[in-house]
This record gives sequence, structure tokens and C-alpha cells, in this order.
Amino acid sequence: MTTTHIRPLVAGNWKMNGLAAALGEATAVNEALSGSTIPADVMLCPPATLLSRMAEAMRGSAVRIGAQDCHPAASGAHTGDISAEMVKDAGASAVIVGHSERRADHAELDRIVRAKAVAAHRAGLTAIVCIGETRGERAAGLTIDVVNRQLKSSLPDGVTGANTVVAYEPVWAIGTGLTPSTDDVAEVHAAIRAHLTGRFPAEGDRVRILYGGSVKPSNAKELMSLPNVNGALVGGASLKADDFLAIIRAYA
Ligand code: 13P
Repeated sequence: MTTTHIRPLVAGNWKMNGLAAALGEATAVNEALSGSTIPADVMLCPPATLLSRMAEAMRGSAVRIGAQDCHPAASGAHTGDISAEMVKDAGASAVIVGHSERRADHAELDRIVRAKAVAAHRAGLTAIVCIGETRGERAAGLTIDVVNRQLKSSLPDGVTGANTVVAYEPVWAIGTGLTPSTDDVAEVHAAIRAHLTGRFPAEGDRVRILYGGSVKPSNAKELMSLPNVNGALVGGASLKADDFLAIIRAYA
């Protein structure tokens, strides 16, 4: 089933990039989009240090702000961590959870990702839940199994089209310039949609499923026009306003 009624989302994940001077890129995105009629939501996910300043700079604009992680607890003795409530308080409306870099760097298991998604919902944030297979898992023909296992264990109960976005990011495609074939992307997104509609019958066909992994201006239109691809989660190409705008304009 295609889900063309879903308003797409193009989100930029700045990862651990961006000093205060980089706020100019966000401002440039905002200025270029103001008054435009591109039928997509746009979001930037800066590092935590820039969350509140970027939220302030984007106040009243169409550019939404997301964080890159949150702790499952609302507050407490967790040095260096940031709660979903703090993310919300900083002016964000969403938070990425379970990015493969956090799963790898911080040994985040599916149950931790799920707890973080629960925290996001508790705080009134949209959880952008990331999943995706490694190169070895794809080579072994395990992609659909891996994605289904991650969905089953990482998504909490109560998922709705408003409170959750799923981002399919094959680990081997992140930052490598490699992307799966369009058939492969469509196959995985169809499996994700089937999982969502099976588990959440009333809302599963409203949840946005983003593709992420080496999305750039030259491949955005093709990837984002595939069935069940409801936008993109963009890493490196979101750091420069011109590249990010060119990807957003895939929907123009
Ligand atoms: P790249 O677009 O740099 O491959 O990163 C994708 C990603 O990990 C977004 O979360």
C-alpha cells in the first residue's frame, strides 16, 4: 500500500557537528523556506549544546527542532545525560532515539531504545526511532528479520502517527556514499509498514517511515518518491543549507 496521504518529513541530523557559528546554516534554511509551499515538514536536530539557541532562532518558523538522544528518566543522578523533558524545555518537538551510532558507541540495546521512546512520549515529544541492518546482516540475507526484531523490541505500545516516526537507516549506508537499490529500500519500507499496521491497526498507516543513509541532492528525489518512504533522515548533507534545501526541494 502506498501512503501518499502522509505529509513527508525531511529531518537533518547534525550528529556531533556544529558550533554557534553553524546556526547561520539553520537560519539560511529557514529564510529560504519562508513563504514557500513545499508540502513537507522540515526538522533540524543539532547537538544538545545548540538546541535552545536553534529553537529560539527558529521560533515561529516552519523549521522544527529535534534532539539526538534522551535519557529514559525524567531527572536524577545521570551525569552528562539529558532527559526528554529537558529536550522539550529547550524548545524541541522531537528526539531521535536508537541511532545506530548510539547503539554502537553506547551499547544501546533495543530495550533501552524503547525506554527512551517511552520517555519521549511521556514528555510530549515525537520519537524518531532508528533501525537498520549492518553490512554483515544484509550479506547474510537477514535484513527483514533484523528490522522486524528491532521494531518489535524498540517500539513501545501506544505508537501513533503523531508521536512516532520510524527511520530506516542501513548501518552500511551511513556516511559511506552507498545506498541500497531502490527495490531494496522499497522492500524494507513495505516490511516496516506491514509491521506497523499489524501491531497498531488504527495508526500504523499514519506513521512516517524515513529513509536515511547517504541521502544527498542527487539521489533524494528517487529515494523519497518510493512507496512507503515518507521523507528522509539526512546526516552529512544537512550541515550545509544549500545541500539540505536541495533535498527538501525533492518535494517541490
Ligand atoms: P549520512 O546522511 O551522513 O549518511 O548519515 C545518515 C544518518 O545517520 C542520519 O541519521
